[in-house]
Amino acid sequence: MSTLQKTNYESSLHEQVGHSDPRSSLNSDANPSPYLVPQHSEVSLPDDFTIALIGPDERRRAAAVRAIAECTVIAVREFPSYPTDRDDAPRLLEQQYDVIVIDLDSDPESALELVESIGGQGASTVMVYSANPDPELLVRCMRAGAREFLAVPLAPAAMAEALVRASARRPAARARKSGRLLVFMGAKGGVGVTSVACNFAVALAQEPGQRTLLIDLDLPLGDAALNLGIVSEFSTINALQASDRLDASFLSKLLVKHSSGLYVLAAPGKFPNFEPPNEAVEKLLLVARQDFDNVVVDVGSRFDLQGTALFSEASRIYLVTQAGIPELRNSNRLINQFFSAGNPKLEIVLNRHESRTLGVAEEHITKALTRPAQWKIPNDHALVRKMQINATPLVLGDSAIAKLIRQMAQSVNPQQPAEPTKNRKKGFSLFG
Ligand SMILES: Nc1ncnc2c1ncn2[C@@H]1O[C@H](COP(=O)(O)OP(=O)(O)OP(=O)(O)O)[C@@H](O)[C@H]1O
Ligand SMILES: [Mg+2]
Repeated sequence: MSTLQKTNYESSLHEQVGHSDPRSSLNSDANPSPYLVPQHSEVSLPDDFTIALIGPDERRRAAAVRAIAECTVIAVREFPSYPTDRDDAPRLLEQQYDVIVIDLDSDPESALELVESIGGQGASTVMVYSANPDPELLVRCMRAGAREFLAVPLAPAAMAEALVRASARRPAARARKSGRLLVFMGAKGGVGVTSVACNFAVALAQEPGQRTLLIDLDLPLGDAALNLGIVSEFSTINALQASDRLDASFLSKLLVKHSSGLYVLAAPGKFPNFEPPNEAVEKLLLVARQDFDNVVVDVGSRFDLQGTALFSEASRIYLVTQAGIPELRNSNRLINQFFSAGNPKLEIVLNRHESRTLGVAEEHITKALTRPAQWKIPNDHALVRKMQINATPLVLGDSAIAKLIRQMAQSVNPQQPAEPTKNRKKGFSLFG
């Protein structure tokens, strides 16, 4: 794990580091810049503007920090090495920073590879700095997606111009991703929330382009990880306890990836001595949704979370129940208490359903639920038991239960066009 340093340069250093060079910007060769800024002036950047600086060479990195501090009080997040995790690091950088400034000279090939993997199409602006004025290198940087080529020694005026251009091309409201929130709760303990939520999450994770996270919020005894055969060093409690520091890269370190592609934030292995405040739950959901297309949450029967974003912001709330008298009675009370009639977000999952219901007739079930159940999952004890013993998700097989849960997942993400898999080269692991 690399060191992440956050440095606030509010008391900016006023050292002149050089002069603007016409080669210093990829944008500046052809046309005179419309963003000319006098040297040493502070440029006006949005308050939430974010800058990352990746520079293995400490001296050059310090000079870059000084050049940035000459023109803005925005804090710079310094990274003293190139990331080695090719999958997540470039995406996290692109997601979290408006500007990513990269030292080219420490290792030009690694730097170019990083530039390329971040890509020039997103909302972030990639800038490189180098003491090598080679035009061929400049063209390679441009092709890789860098928008600015800053000459070393770095000139604060050139940096200021580049930052203003980056700010101008930032979308008005940098569209922060907010993935779907899909909440599973049980009308009563043991109705099958975890079995359904795990399989649903695996089915979603298998759809092309659907980064999916399963959060086990059934504290303290959630057993989603056990169902999936996963052992996790960290848990939901770690995320909730570190709420004030939680961001996408922190969260990524707490997750385990299941072989299906599903990411899991497991419940703790030991009984935790911690009662998370609602704000911590909300922060976790916020961060998770910024990084994932789907956030599936197993809340068990924790009705105390009703007041949180978990319910107000959920795309779907699946109330899992069964056709027994106590389960139906609880369902009826919950639906009347929390879900006004016809609430489109609520979907009822009638688990362990038998078409020839022995006890409660179909019309009584519908009456108790105030509406027909959207999903009826067959009762198949042998199959579910087998899944638990082998820790193999049912949806990977071909049973009636598997087909139904896959249908549930497809209804959330209808007609998703297949996304071509990116054929990336070598990887980075700054955040791993
Ligand atoms: N469709 C099904 N057919 C047969 N058995 C099932 C089915 N769904 C779940 N079960 C069984 O019901 C039991 C409870 O399931 P599960 O742990 O998923 O429920 P839960 O609501 O998450 O329980 P808890 O309240 O303990 O969290 C398990 O033993 C599981 O094998
Ligand atoms: Mg459970």
